[in-house]
Amino acid sequence: MSLSGQTVAITGASGGLGRELAQQAAQRGARLALMARNETKLSELANELGDDVLVFNGDVTSAENAKKFIEATIEKFGALDQLIANAGQSMWANFDQIEDTELFRQLMEVNFMGVVNCIHPAIDALRKSGGQAVIISSIQSKFGVPAHSAYGASKHAIEGLVDSLRFELANSGINFMAVYPHWIRGTGMRENALGPDGEAVGDCKRSHSNSSIPADVCARKILDALPRRRESLFIPGKLKYLPALKLLLPPFFRWLILSKIKSQK
Ligand SMILES: NC(=O)c1ccc[n+]([C@@H]2O[C@H](COP(=O)([O-])OP(=O)(O)OC[C@H]3O[C@@H](n4cnc5c(N)ncnc54)[C@H](OP(=O)(O)O)[C@@H]3O)[C@@H](O)[C@H]2O)c1
Repeated sequence: MSLSGQTVAITGASGGLGRELAQQAAQRGARLALMARNETKLSELANELGDDVLVFNGDVTSAENAKKFIEATIEKFGALDQLIANAGQSMWANFDQIEDTELFRQLMEVNFMGVVNCIHPAIDALRKSGGQAVIISSIQSKFGVPAHSAYGASKHAIEGLVDSLRFELANSGINFMAVYPHWIRGTGMRENALGPDGEAVGDCKRSHSNSSIPADVCARKILDALPRRRESLFIPGKLKYLPALKLLLPPFFRWLILSKIKSQK
């Protein structure tokens, strides 16, 4: 699926899924604008991808940084076709073990305000290009799981945002695609997750379940879906039945989720 001539802006591109998305989008001919806080990692990636990549060192929790990123993208490439709001952070702590509820604010800032901060300044450009905002959410935007209360809440907030935008901007020509992945293997999410003390947990020994998705496969599915301008993309597709199962059979649903989580300890 070619992205030739399209300008693709990706947040959280210094590692994990964002890096995979950038590498595969470059192979498909996209003009790339990449944002993250780690300038060294971003520059190394940009050097690997070619001369014409915009590297923007910034934090999505800053509305000013996000606005400058979008402005720099439009200044360099003259347009914005695909904005992939991917930057995110997770957690691993039960609610009653969390030492300071500031952790909730921090994850809302990155996972929710980070998306708001990037989409808001991009609306005019996306309207002009008839482009697309792709929000890397999580299946946890549909239901909560243990040890992820703040993460799940921040991803639920994205649902409300995107629902409203689809109404308000129905005639704008912009498509809003929400992506709901299952656990992804091969990213730094578990090491970067906040623990009960509000610090990153670091080296993570938890194994992944067999049903987790490799990051390169996840990135390929997302890029393949861009031309189809879908509203939602569940990875894998069968995840789309889980919200219905939660409504219809709550005890069975909880048993199923717990058994999946236990299988990766
Ligand atoms: N891994 C999973 O199992 C999984 C499952 C479902 C959904 N997701 C979602 O997929 C997305 C990518 O996660 P990942 O697994 O690739 O995690 P990751 O390996 O930890 O990568 C996160 C990326 O986000 C960037 N980032 C974090 N905070 C930022 C901030 N304040 N400003 C700018 N950039 C920031 C990081 O770069 P810097 O540190 O350089 O800023 C990094 O490039 C997230 O939205 C996550 O919620 C992941």
